Amino acid sequence: MTSSLRAPDATLIKAIQAIVGEAGWKPGQEAQEAQRYFEDPRGRFQGGGCLIALPESTEQVAEILRLCDKAKAGVIPYGGGTGVVAGQLSIARDDAIILSLERMNRVRQFSVEERVLTAESGCILENLHSYAFEAGLMFPLSMASKGSCSIGGNLATNAGGIQVLRHGNARDLCLGIEAVFANGDVFSELSPLRKNNTGYDLRHLLIGSEGTLGVITAASLVLKPLDPETVTVFCAMTSPGKALRLYNRLDKVLGDSISGLELMSDFGLDLVTTHFPALAKPFRDRYPWYLLVEVGGHLGIRARVEDVLSESMELEILQDAVFADSQAQRAALWDLREYTPEANRLTGAICSSDTSVPIGQIEPFIARAAQAVAKQHPGLRINSYGHMGDGNIHLNVFPPAGFSKADFLAGNGAIIDAVRMAINETTHHFGGSISAEHGIGRLKTSDLKTYAGHAKLKAMTAVKKALDPNGILNPGALIG
Ligand code: LAC
Ligand code: ZN
Repeated sequence: MTSSLRAPDATLIKAIQAIVGEAGWKPGQEAQEAQRYFEDPRGRFQGGGCLIALPESTEQVAEILRLCDKAKAGVIPYGGGTGVVAGQLSIARDDAIILSLERMNRVRQFSVEERVLTAESGCILENLHSYAFEAGLMFPLSMASKGSCSIGGNLATNAGGIQVLRHGNARDLCLGIEAVFANGDVFSELSPLRKNNTGYDLRHLLIGSEGTLGVITAASLVLKPLDPETVTVFCAMTSPGKALRLYNRLDKVLGDSISGLELMSDFGLDLVTTHFPALAKPFRDRYPWYLLVEVGGHLGIRARVEDVLSESMELEILQDAVFADSQAQRAALWDLREYTPEANRLTGAICSSDTSVPIGQIEPFIARAAQAVAKQHPGLRINSYGHMGDGNIHLNVFPPAGFSKADFLAGNGAIIDAVRMAINETTHHFGGSISAEHGIGRLKTSDLKTYAGHAKLKAMTAVKKALDPNGILNPGALIG
């Protein structure tokens, strides 16, 4: 589908520069100032591109796409650049135009009464948190990259994160959307209707399409009331199965109030506290597994959490627990979880999976995946952690102790793919998904072909052809 693309000629480049004006573009990959648009957060891929266009309005996006479609020039929509599956990086070709939405960062409308905020795509997620908070509300989508990821990228990838259990993915927090199709048509359904049953839901087709069907330019987002009380508690137990039992007990009493449920291992806690020595371990003793639990709700909810934990301790489901007694303690407990991806990178992860399995299968999945990885090379180390309530476990695999990533890979070129495929096969065995919340990008296009099934792939290809017949939007991503 991408073979018919052409390198943009000087006329097209000049026309795009004229649309966005002097402050609205940067030169491509040769320029020092442009390097950040080509970097992979995990350092595995190198992107390319011949021009970075920074439109300021939906009209400018539409004009650019219209021209690119006529010229059959590839366009890479770019948000905060934090994606971990190379969806924002043109790896195979260096003649694409990078379309960064960063200057489209206005809040267009805000209604406290309706609890809706209409934001442009380039708004940084954390800025939306602050915006809502100042009005006594919250926007609950959250993840470690919140300070640099953008809402457009969050929606394009249907991002998940640490509050999905209670509030859903990006998809579940979006009432309306504005996007530009490949031919320059502007699709605008920003009105924040709670019900709108008028045919194909293009909003949900665009969300999670990773910039391959249209460029999302704005969205109407759902805000939630702030919780009068938030309880954050770090729990220790002997196994993921015990963590699941604890979750079920909490769920019975607290139900929808549970917003965070993050599983970590003792090995993972060691990694994060080694790389970030300012972070303190919550317990003096070691335990095999931990569960960071966060519950939000009415005043008095802490007493209910305490009751469940006491009972669970008597039943030997729970070994120990530490409550956060202040905002600072709460942040310190969350830092242990939030710094984990960076600790994995610094430890030299050669593979970082994004698996989901039915939650009842988490414990056998972790055990079987460890066996499958061990078969690929003796001594590989694994940090399994993640969003337990969503069955979404990230496995990070490191070289054997004493080996740096570079030295290890130099002698084991095929190991990255072998480990990825071993985890994929285990995921498949448990009826899981190879991408729970990160998307497909360019990293997992072949995995998608392996696991998606014929009918799904055929339908996806047909949708892509219908909406982007020249294949200009994010060529090489998602369906290849
Ligand atoms: C996390 C990212 C990697 O949950 O999804 O840490
Ligand atoms: Zn995650």
